[in-house]
Amino acid sequence: MPSENSAVLTAHQVDPAAPILVFDSGVGGLTVLAALRDVLPQAPVIYAADTAGLPYGTKTEAQIAARVAGLLGRMTERFAPRLVCIACNTASTIALGMVREVLEVPIVGTVPAIKPAAAMTRTGTIGLLGTQATIRQAYVDRLEQEFAADKRLLRHGAPELVEAAEAKLRGEAVDPAAIRRAAQALRSMPGGADIDTVVLACTHFPLLEEELAEAFGPGVSFVHGAQGIARQIARLTDGQPYTRRAPDRALFTGPADQATAYAAALADYGLEEGGRF
Ligand code: DGL
Repeated sequence: MPSENSAVLTAHQVDPAAPILVFDSGVGGLTVLAALRDVLPQAPVIYAADTAGLPYGTKTEAQIAARVAGLLGRMTERFAPRLVCIACNTASTIALGMVREVLEVPIVGTVPAIKPAAAMTRTGTIGLLGTQATIRQAYVDRLEQEFAADKRLLRHGAPELVEAAEAKLRGEAVDPAAIRRAAQALRSMPGGADIDTVVLACTHFPLLEEELAEAFGPGVSFVHGAQGIARQIARLTDGQPYTRRAPDRALFTGPADQATAYAAALADYGLEEGGRF
């Protein structure tokens, strides 16, 4: 689900080559980029992955907030994006408010799609897969109270799925046992047998939707926020001119050879390796 602030640039204030900056700890944000490509194929994009900080989900709130604020500050100065998309539930549920206070650029965040899940479930039992950091956030409690107070929401933090999604995009085999463990963890909670809707509350997890669907079995639907985020970005940039003067690039904080392992996947998303930031 998207979360937005109100800073909207009018068309005449925008450099047509100004990119949309899509940020995540790793390759998860590519799931948001894919949806963005569908609605704004002409938009120049810089994809930034904090691979030196990956995974965020096992870090403390203070560590995540400091990293995200620091990196986004640096990148907005360097690339002057027209909009920043924090394509990471962990970073958004922890640091969105704080980052919006310090950066003067429209920021769209990614928060768990509990609202659409609550509208979809027929059994009234929703599973939520996120990182360990995301599932403990007050932000998620508030979404639950606001949109799913009359439902049962079962949460599970699944760091193994982040690793599995990263491996998949490096062209490596996904460990089916890791996927089964995540499904089993939700199924074995009280009421877990009734889950008919699963919120993929980490942008890495839609990369594993097929594997997860197999592990959960028939009758379970998956929901995430990518399309909603893309629509929100289109709305906030409505009427702005776009010119792509150079190929879209992916930048990493981690070592260059790490980035090279993702080259084929990046090409699938229309990105060239752009080095370190
Ligand atoms: N893709 C990130 C999210 O949406 C988290 C992955 C990580 O643990 O760094 O939460």
